[in-house]
Amino acid sequence: MTEIERIDLLRKELHAHNHNYYILNAPTISDQEFDRLMRELQELEAKHPEHYDENSPSQRVGSDLNKDFRQVAHKYPMLSLGNTYSQAEVTDFYERVRKSLNEDFEICCELKFDGTSISLTYENGKLVQAVTRGDGVRGDDVTDNVKTIRSIPLVLQGEGYPESFEIRGEILMPWKVFEELNRERELREEPLFANPRNAASGTLKSQNSAVVASRKLDAYLYYLLGENLPHDGHYENLQEAAGWGFKVSGHMRKVRTLQEIFDFINYWDTERKNLPVATDGIVLKVNSQRQQRNLGYTAKSPRWAIAYKFQAERALTRLEKVTYQVGRTGAVTPVANLTPVQLSGTVVKRASLHNADIIASLDLHIGDKVYVEKGGEIIPKITGVDLGSRPAGSEKVTFITHCPECGSPLVRYEDEAAHYCTNESSCPPQIKGRIEHFISRRAMNIEGLGPETVDQFYQEGMIHDVADLYTLQAADICRLERMGEKSAENIIRGIENSRQAPYERVLFALGIRFVGETVAKKVAKAFPSVELLEAATLDELIHVDEIGTKIAQSILRYFHDEKNLLLVDRLRKAGLRMEADKEDLSGHTDKLQGKSVVISGVFARHSRDEYKALIEKHGGKNVGSISKKTSFILAGDNMGPSKLEKAEKLGIPIMNEDDFLALTEEE
Ligand code: IVH
Repeated sequence: MTEIERIDLLRKELHAHNHNYYILNAPTISDQEFDRLMRELQELEAKHPEHYDENSPSQRVGSDLNKDFRQVAHKYPMLSLGNTYSQAEVTDFYERVRKSLNEDFEICCELKFDGTSISLTYENGKLVQAVTRGDGVRGDDVTDNVKTIRSIPLVLQGEGYPESFEIRGEILMPWKVFEELNRERELREEPLFANPRNAASGTLKSQNSAVVASRKLDAYLYYLLGENLPHDGHYENLQEAAGWGFKVSGHMRKVRTLQEIFDFINYWDTERKNLPVATDGIVLKVNSQRQQRNLGYTAKSPRWAIAYKFQAERALTRLEKVTYQVGRTGAVTPVANLTPVQLSGTVVKRASLHNADIIASLDLHIGDKVYVEKGGEIIPKITGVDLGSRPAGSEKVTFITHCPECGSPLVRYEDEAAHYCTNESSCPPQIKGRIEHFISRRAMNIEGLGPETVDQFYQEGMIHDVADLYTLQAADICRLERMGEKSAENIIRGIENSRQAPYERVLFALGIRFVGETVAKKVAKAFPSVELLEAATLDELIHVDEIGTKIAQSILRYFHDEKNLLLVDRLRKAGLRMEADKEDLSGHTDKLQGKSVVISGVFARHSRDEYKALIEKHGGKNVGSISKKTSFILAGDNMGPSKLEKAEKLGIPIMNEDDFLALTEEE
């Protein structure tokens, strides 16, 4: 077999394995074996770029190229459905259809998936385009991102599919993935997604398809459009589509009577809680396309379909008091303490009130009867107050002015909803929170240490900051309650090992606001030592990929604080890595030392990001705009005319990529 034939075979096999795994839930090979085949394919494809196929299973891994989405007009507008909330309205719909059609009809009952809708176009059995709903007329072309979703086939199987058709459906983040993602975001103090729908649509709009690939989205398809569909029945067409490799819900039912519709609704109202993905209602569709055409459309939605929305579960209970939690960044979160009440199968005692504005807009008083809801959200929220039952003379809830932990006055920064305690150095939850973050698995990963031990050390006055960890002695630890010699040694060993943690982890562990794991990596790459980072300017920082003003300012603020500089210095003296690995530095030169380089245009041999990295590798600085100080412009094709004019006016040399690569002796 030639390598080309092997590529074709691997592509075919991997497509089939994807289908078995993601659609049929019945893998026939192990994950390792799958990875091995995928690696083999990737290696062979790298050797044979001439045999590139944009729908190869290897395209699922995503790319981290930045792109803005292109807007595309929908061939058929993406309409929404009329919503109903009561069974009476369902009866009205059914009667309307019956009277208009005046003949037998079937209704297809389906789950209403609560994600973000997508329209996929297939031509000759291949996915060619994926577009979001947008405004219904035009949407964003998110094809590259959608290709990373394993349950969406890139290449169809079976036969009988039209040469060209669209299929629409819902992209979803399964509950499990959503909960895990939020757990990680919480650790990194990144804002949480309120529900899987927001998480799915946020992910789909990511500019980085590698991020999309990592988020494990799923998709159900529920609507076929095209000229030459195999059947008149919507249900029958979707069953056919399942045979072409699409993930179609197994919970669709064709019925004829109103009673059957209500049975379906009532069954799923409770049963949906056991589904792996979020649903918010039921969709009823007239099954025959001929009948659908007869019924037609109103300006906004089809007359042949309707959505019945489930009532979000709600309970009425009493607000007993409001307490406040202080996080590691000093952010103060108000929490409603409620008289325990049963809601969607769990007992709810607390609900987040988020911030002062929310409290004010609810006009909360202690003792109020409040409505608590658990929509798609994990944390229940208060959606309203029963003003009629407000006790006379009850106390209005006003946001606290001082930190409940240390008594310092709180501040609220411009453009932020949260209040902060700024007493970073001696507010206990902030101190402990920073240490807990520092030792956590994704940061310094200090084994043997956990939040309880940190608390114990702190209470005993043994540690006040993260640098104190490196002065701990086994003998001191042993003396503590519930602490044997063995655990003391474990802790010391864990701390010892953490000295080897790479620079980027140390950066993350410092707990600089908004510097999560990914940002820490980017920062470490752009500024391969803490000295360089300490000296970085706002302009230099915001030129790093994924770093905006908010993050840049936070980094500047951190290193402007004398206390932090001292802490970093103590950590350095304790032997922590404060610069990137030597390997990373291999090939570094100072050929471009002191040079400011502007990159402009489109390149053939490397991406802009790669050129940026090369400039930095050789000691230069990549800057955004042309000024007198610019040393030269690295120009590709189609350099912007205004840039060209400016460069000529200032007499700044322009270098093409070949000359640049020759200069830096790169390939
Ligand atoms: S059919 C013209 N079926 O609900 C009919 N939609 O407001 C096109 N949705 O935008 C939609 N599950 O995002 C249909 N089984 C299902 C659905 C469904 C969820 C979403 C979809 C649509 C919205 C309707």
